[in-house]
Amino acid sequence: MMSHGTKFLALVLSVCGMFSARLCAQGPATAATPPMGWNSWNHFRNKVDDATIRAQADAMVSSGMRDAGYIYVNIDDTWEGERDAQGIIQANSKFPDMKALADYVHSKGLKLGIYSSPGAKTCAKFEGSLGHEEQDAKTYAAWGIDYLKYDLCGLREQMKAAPSPEAAHQIMVDAYIKMRDALRSTGRPIVYSLCQYGNDAVWRWGTDVGGNLWRTTGDISDKYASMSQIGFSQAGLARFAGPGHWNDPDMLEVGNGGMNTEEYRTHMSLWAILAAPLLAGNDLTTMTPETVALLTNREVIAIDQDKTGEQGDRLWAEGPIEIWVRRLADGSKALGVFNRHPSVMTTVIDFSKLGFSGPVRARDVWQAKDLGGISAPYPVSIPGHGVILLRVK
Ligand code: GLA
Repeated sequence: MMSHGTKFLALVLSVCGMFSARLCAQGPATAATPPMGWNSWNHFRNKVDDATIRAQADAMVSSGMRDAGYIYVNIDDTWEGERDAQGIIQANSKFPDMKALADYVHSKGLKLGIYSSPGAKTCAKFEGSLGHEEQDAKTYAAWGIDYLKYDLCGLREQMKAAPSPEAAHQIMVDAYIKMRDALRSTGRPIVYSLCQYGNDAVWRWGTDVGGNLWRTTGDISDKYASMSQIGFSQAGLARFAGPGHWNDPDMLEVGNGGMNTEEYRTHMSLWAILAAPLLAGNDLTTMTPETVALLTNREVIAIDQDKTGEQGDRLWAEGPIEIWVRRLADGSKALGVFNRHPSVMTTVIDFSKLGFSGPVRARDVWQAKDLGGISAPYPVSIPGHGVILLRVK
């Protein structure tokens, strides 16, 4: 039997087939499951160039990440150069030939992403797309770009000058619609990623402006305080996400060194339950085996990419202990039992209070261990800042 998510996707795909590619360039078929890949910002900031991107693409393949589902190689801010006499955007000297770079990334079975702003300037004060939306979308399509992160930044100048908050909101919405239409008229499927930090409850209107995903918060940093504040504040957003339109609590920090293994496990587990995009943000060329294992755990990725596309939510809390649950296509549920306290905590999982009736069968995902049948409240001990991730039927 097809799930609701699968039926919806099948319907959209058949409608896309009936009409031109234009209608579906940013439709659900473009991001049927949360996008997976890598982005340059968290690790490289402005120190990203052609050679870096090629090396990350190579490592995405050789590390096994591509085969685990990571596909997008996304260049973030600081690639932009000047516009030519016709107003066509050029990459700066760090990226001598963007088309050749896209060809290289594509030859590896991967896709290439890029970054711009609806404002005159990006966050790092490089050239934005204001007044050049159609030209830029055409340029991206001609280069072979598959993903655009569109970051509000510079447009806040125009918004500040607006006579009312409503007018400011409209400027932002119109700007996102403008680039949506520009991308659609290229006919190339380009994932459209909105980045405006969750302002004006973007989850309520992100789909209407064509977003395949939208950032729900400010920038993540490689610290437990930042990651957990962002991740655990996603409660209640589940109903706004689904195939083709995802909440984005920001990119991964796994492997960047600022958190310990338990904390990175919390990061991966929570993002999977949240049906969040999994965009690695570390240097893929220097990963420890432990980092590779964290990023490529097949069972965790299967939860994130589950085809129902239903985001999970918090079902239970006891001080620092929180249980988040996500329904999965095979009728089972992913259950994250998180400990936000820095030291170990014990608790008892009462499955009857979490939507299960009668005995359950559980598997500990990170331990890759079947726990067998459980018919009574189940005592667990959770490491500080850690998680026990279960798949329960
Ligand atoms: C903003 C975004 C970040 C990154 C930088 C680049 O801060 O939220 O994710 O793209 O801009 O300048």
